[in-house]
Amino acid sequence: MDKFIIEGGNSLYGSVRISGAKNAALPAMAAAILTSDDVHLSGMPDLADVTTMVDLLEKMGIRTEGYKENAQDTDLQRSITINTSGINTYDAPYELVKTMRASVLVLGPLAARYGSARVSLPGGCAIGSRPIDLHLKGLAALGANVSIDHGYINIKAKKLKAAKIVFDTTTVTGTENIMMAATLAEGTTVVENAAKEPEVTSLAEQLVRMGARIKGAGTDILVIEGVHKLQGCSFDIIPDRIEAGTYIIAAAASGGEVEITNCNPRHLDALLFKIKEAGISYTETDSSITVKREKQSRIRSVSIKTMPYPNFPTDLQAQFMTLMTQGDNTSVITETIFENRLMHVGELRRMGADIRVEGNIAIVKGKTGLMGAPIMATDLRASASLVIAGLIADGRTEVSRIYHLDRGYEIMEKKLSSIGARVKRVKE
Ligand code: EPU
Repeated sequence: MDKFIIEGGNSLYGSVRISGAKNAALPAMAAAILTSDDVHLSGMPDLADVTTMVDLLEKMGIRTEGYKENAQDTDLQRSITINTSGINTYDAPYELVKTMRASVLVLGPLAARYGSARVSLPGGCAIGSRPIDLHLKGLAALGANVSIDHGYINIKAKKLKAAKIVFDTTTVTGTENIMMAATLAEGTTVVENAAKEPEVTSLAEQLVRMGARIKGAGTDILVIEGVHKLQGCSFDIIPDRIEAGTYIIAAAASGGEVEITNCNPRHLDALLFKIKEAGISYTETDSSITVKREKQSRIRSVSIKTMPYPNFPTDLQAQFMTLMTQGDNTSVITETIFENRLMHVGELRRMGADIRVEGNIAIVKGKTGLMGAPIMATDLRASASLVIAGLIADGRTEVSRIYHLDRGYEIMEKKLSSIGARVKRVKE
């Protein structure tokens, strides 16, 4: 297992290029199951979760080319070509699903194209119980027979039939699963209370390029007119707004001047609004954001509440909390998406942060001088918040279990080092 050793205190200067979005790449790969033609995806990030999805597809007999071969070549624009014509099983086994919940994204495409799927039911995870009941209710509404045995979801369907589906809660991968399934269903499906995240919109664009008929992407009502067949496509993965947001927050917390390139500022409006409210200045172009802060300048404490897009993302809550430990007053951070996503609080406290938790609310008192300490990553975004804490702490911080980080941040230690942070990856 690897860990990061961070010597805190440096301001950050330079430029960081953002990778393709993990949460766009995973559904884009699953969507390849909807056609027997080649699906070519470019701008792919080099991440453990993407490798898990490659393994899952290959286990089903699906051919992938280009991704694993270039695994070490970090300067290369990664791409992958997926061809599902050799598929020989519709199973997603427990070993893979337990390492990556997003494996459930194969459910919708398998149900639509093959009328059969057997996918391990994901268990609870570090950030909450995360049921997938809405995915399953949606598929059942489309006419699939859904049953659960021995920890596996079994789907059987002849031909999916269009339906009106109203999600009780906005669900990102649930919307993606149902949208994919409905592209090949008979008739016109309407999904209400659909997720509006840029990754959902990106998937809709890819599906349309494959011949799907989808209206309303980016709004909460999707209208999907089923077609007989989809074809292959070439598609570019959108930049990772959460990775970009993480570097924006790292730069704001550390001070300095950092240009974050290959990002879409419009996907980050909720964060940028709060960054501005906190008194941190930034400039933007169509595809970059430059954050600038004098190290000694005041950071205003501001409150946030996580909500589905376009509101403040839960995936940036932990990182923003670290920034708020440097605020001039009190910040109230409310997590409304996941019930257990304040695990980083304990570790931040060990570094000297003054944070009180009441249910799903964290009350962060600033400004506290953080002290380097041995700390442990608990999930992907919590880990990022701890790395940022290490960057601004006095002395040396050791972040263990950074396999969590490798799931969603490409070469983070290299990117941070290139802008002046002192971060080393070592074997534990
Ligand atoms: N929910 C249900 N039933 C369902 C589905 C969801 O009750 O059938 C609940 C969840 O328990 C949660 C809420 O609905 O309380 C929202 O969950 P959602 O389904 O939107 O989450 P997800 O699709 O499992 C994706 C991202 C997450 C991100 C969330 C929220 C992917 C692969 N994952 O998860 O990303 O936090 O949306 O935006 O797209 C991450 O990258 O670190 C990460 C966790």
